[in-house]
Amino acid sequence: MTPRTKIIGTGHSVPERILTNFDLEKMVDTTDQWIIERTGIHERHIKEPEQNNSDFCVEASRQALEEAGLGASELDMIILATVTGDMRFPSTSIFVQARLGAHNAVVFDIGAACSGFLYALSIADNMIATGKYTKILVIGSECMTHVTDWSDRNTCVLFGDGAGAAVVTKSDSEKGIIASYMGSDGRLAHLLYSSGGGTVSPASYESVDNRDHYLKMAGRDVFLHAVKAMGDSAQRALDEAGLTGNDIDLLIPHQANVRIMDATAKRIGIPREKVVINIDRYGNTSAASIPIALNEARRTGRLLPGMTCLMVVFGGGFTWASAIVKF
Ligand code: ACO
Repeated sequence: MTPRTKIIGTGHSVPERILTNFDLEKMVDTTDQWIIERTGIHERHIKEPEQNNSDFCVEASRQALEEAGLGASELDMIILATVTGDMRFPSTSIFVQARLGAHNAVVFDIGAACSGFLYALSIADNMIATGKYTKILVIGSECMTHVTDWSDRNTCVLFGDGAGAAVVTKSDSEKGIIASYMGSDGRLAHLLYSSGGGTVSPASYESVDNRDHYLKMAGRDVFLHAVKAMGDSAQRALDEAGLTGNDIDLLIPHQANVRIMDATAKRIGIPREKVVINIDRYGNTSAASIPIALNEARRTGRLLPGMTCLMVVFGGGFTWASAIVKF
C-alpha cells in the first residue's frame, strides 16, 4: 500500500514516582524474583493522587508538536485512546485540547484498552485519506494505577501510568503507514474488565465494597489469547504489506509480559535484538505502552529514518491491532 499518512513527531511522559518490585514485596505476598521471571517487570511509574491522565497527555503532546514543528492551533483533530480518563465525561481529549490551545481541532476519546493507540492511529490514517483532515494528534494515555487493586497480587504488580503521543500528516513519499489491521472479540470481555461506575455497577457503597471499580483479570486465559492474537495480528499486517519478518528492522510489541513479546517475535521470525522491550521500567501502561516505546526508540536512535517498524498489540475487550510504518 502506498502510505497516506506519516508520523512527524512523537513524545512521551510518565510520572516521576517509581514503585519497585521491592516496594510491592511490602504490600502483597510476592517477590521481586517472581515478578521478573513471570513478567519481566522491575519497576513502574505511578502517579501522585493529584495528577490526572490529561497532565501526561499534555506533556507528551507538547514534545510531539515541537518535533513536528507545529503549533497546537494548526491541529485539525485530536484522537485520545484511554480507558482511565480524568472524568466519566466530558472526554479527556477535551481537557487536553483546552490546555494545548488546539482550538481548531475536533477532539474525541476512543476506548479499546491496550489496543487504543493503534486503533487511534488507524482511525487517523483513514481520516487523512478523506482529505478533510491534514494534521492529527494521536495520543495513548493511561492511569492504570487508578483501577489497580493494591491488595490483589495477581494484577497489582503488572501496571503503570503514562502517556505517549504522535503527530501524523499526509505522506507524499514512501514513508508512512504501509499496513494496519484491527480486530475485536466481545465474547471474551468477561476475562478483563472494570465494571464499577458504569450502568452494570453504578457507584454505590455496595460497588465499592465489592471492589468493582478495580480491574479484574483472568491472567492465564488472557495470556493464552494474547500470544495467539499478537502473532496472528502481526502476520496480518505483514501479509497486507507483502513483507516477511526478515523485512522488519524493529518490532514494537505491547509491553504486557516479556514472555508474550518473545512468543510473538518467534512466531514471525524476528530476533530478540530487533524487539523493543521497556516493560522492565514501565510495566504495562495499556494504551500508552506502544507510543512510549515508539518515542523512546526514536529518541535513543534505535529507530532511524529508513527503517521499517512493526507495532502489535492486544488488550481488554478483547481487542488487537497491528501497524507497519516506514520511517
Ligand atoms: N507473586 C507471586 N505469586 C503470584 C503472583 C505474584 N504477584 N501473582 C500470581 N501468583 C501465583 C498465582 O496465585 C498462582 O499460584 P497457584 O498456582 O498456587 O494458584 C501462580 O502464581 C501462577 O499463576 P498464573 O496466573 O498461572 O501465572 P502466570 O505465569 O500466568 O503469570 C500473569 C500471571 C503475569 C498475570 C500472566 O498470566 C499474564 O501476563 N497475563 C496476560 C496479561 C496481559 O497480557 N494483559 C494484556 C492486556 S491488559 C489490558 O488490556 C489493560
